[in-house]
Amino acid sequence: MQHTRELFKLVGIRTRAMAESKHLLIVYHSQSGTTSKMADAVIRGATRPDIEGVEVRVRDALEALPDDVLWADGLLLGTPENFGYMSGAMKYFLDRVYYPCEHRVAGMPYALFVRAGNDGTGAIGSITRILTGLSVKQVQDAVLIAGDFDETRLIECEELGMTMAAGLESGIF
Ligand SMILES: Cc1cc2nc3c(=O)[nH]c(=O)nc-3n(C[C@H](O)[C@H](O)[C@H](O)COP(=O)(O)O)c2cc1C
Repeated sequence: MQHTRELFKLVGIRTRAMAESKHLLIVYHSQSGTTSKMADAVIRGATRPDIEGVEVRVRDALEALPDDVLWADGLLLGTPENFGYMSGAMKYFLDRVYYPCEHRVAGMPYALFVRAGNDGTGAIGSITRILTGLSVKQVQDAVLIAGDFDETRLIECEELGMTMAAGLESGIF
């Protein structure tokens, strides 16, 4: 009995905590691994132990579903630039979620992280155009790592994830 009460107490605490927690969805695609490194840093920032009120869900762009987006209070998208555009996988993600999420995510805060061999503006511009159609709200500048992959810039990705999670937790976004 004592055990059961303790359990209920614990479940109660968890349920309250979960009811109050905000949801952050991170969707990304990487072919040769550098956008993955950026995503790892973004996730590290978003899941810092001092940010307790945010649940983070990570999905590959090929697997993420409209329900993942509808679950989210905030969105971080990561893609390489391919042929002057976002990656095909990221486009496939946006193609799948656009209409199921249209009119249901207006105002949702989002930010981007992008990896490019030498440019990146095409990837950022193409995603931004589509997200503008969804009326989601860009709350941080995109982190773009172009040219030689500079690992020291992963700190910016970590900050991107941390700022988004902290902003959701505090209700700023
Ligand atoms: C098919 C293909 C097309 C690419 N097109 C572009 C491009 O248009 N602009 C650019 O800056 N980099 C381009 N790149 C370079 C990639 O953005 C770069 O290799 C990036 O690191 C890939 O990210 P990943 O390691 O996460 O797969 C291209 C690479 C590939 C494989």
